[in-house]
Amino acid sequence: MGDKKVIFSGMQPSGALTLGNYLGALKNWVKLQDEYDCYYCVVDMHAITVPKEPKDLRRNTLEVLANYIASGIDPEKSTLFIQSHVSAHAELGWVLNSLSYYGELSRMTQFKDKSKRLDSNSIPAGLFVYPTLMVADILLYQADLVPVGEDQRQHLELTRDLAARFNNRFSETFKVPDAYISSEGAKIMSLQDPQSKMSKSDSNENAYILLVDSHDAIRRKFKRAVTDSMGVVSYNDEQPGVKNLINIYSKISGKTSETIVSEYEGKGYAQFKDDVAEVVFGELKPIQEKINYLLKNKDYLEKIYLLGAEKAEYVARKTLRKVYKKIGFIPR
Ligand code: AMP
Ligand code: TRP
Repeated sequence: MGDKKVIFSGMQPSGALTLGNYLGALKNWVKLQDEYDCYYCVVDMHAITVPKEPKDLRRNTLEVLANYIASGIDPEKSTLFIQSHVSAHAELGWVLNSLSYYGELSRMTQFKDKSKRLDSNSIPAGLFVYPTLMVADILLYQADLVPVGEDQRQHLELTRDLAARFNNRFSETFKVPDAYISSEGAKIMSLQDPQSKMSKSDSNENAYILLVDSHDAIRRKFKRAVTDSMGVVSYNDEQPGVKNLINIYSKISGKTSETIVSEYEGKGYAQFKDDVAEVVFGELKPIQEKINYLLKNKDYLEKIYLLGAEKAEYVARKTLRKVYKKIGFIPR
């Protein structure tokens, strides 16, 4: 606290978390806890921008919180909370909607991707303004750094633009944050289509590994992972499937891609895939045990998110009060 730099990040409770979420984001979040004042949020308000069953949302929200803690986020060190518990997010989001432009929001690739799958009469307006809510999340805490995967870079650019725009128009109010994107293996790809990212919303369950997948499921999914016909474990862009498996192996074991390639010289893909599956399961097993334990102890989870919301609310309100005053709202 105090002089430490501030970190904010969040994940949507749109389903169980994947190995992509873990390696691309969570594992880094854990490392940052000692050095920074960290806020880690379960962004349930983002998750309703696409239709979602209420009971699934309730379950997924607690699951994501349990996944955070089981992966090593320590509630004693970091502020863990649920977005909808702190109403300042929605309030600042509204102010930012009035500050952002139709054109810039239309250019967001995530919006373009998600909306192109829908008929124009059924694209929720929430999906369109989702980035401004994300900007509000970050700016409320005056975050210095935002650790995210590569896919969020554009939203972080928007965050910087809107922070600077507000500061210019109304005087210095927000810290302009930086994205914090770890380089190697920042993007874990689908096991079925190594050109697209591993995503929990993929319709093919062989495309992703969930943190809670069984040992058998993990073995099976890696066995079926799409590679190529070259038959050589080598790290290059012509073999995106193999490259992705090497990235996964490397991120978990700490070995470099060169070391891994040399270990598999003269060996086929079958052995390599089995080994990747074992390394992944070895990493996930203790996490799974902890997740199960936490989900059986809902009272403990409740204590954590209540305390987290209280801490977050204090900081968020302070920023929102400043914003309201500067834009000309009359204080109550
Ligand atoms: P989401 O699941 O879209 O809410 O993403 C939560 C966080 O995980 C964000 O920081 C993403 O950038 C990151 N993330 C999601 N999928 C991947 C992936 N396949 N590889 C790396 N990072 C990911
Ligand atoms: N949009 C992010 C995603 O889909 C989730 C998110 C919402 C987020 N608010 C955030 C990430 C604030 C970092 C900071 O992954």
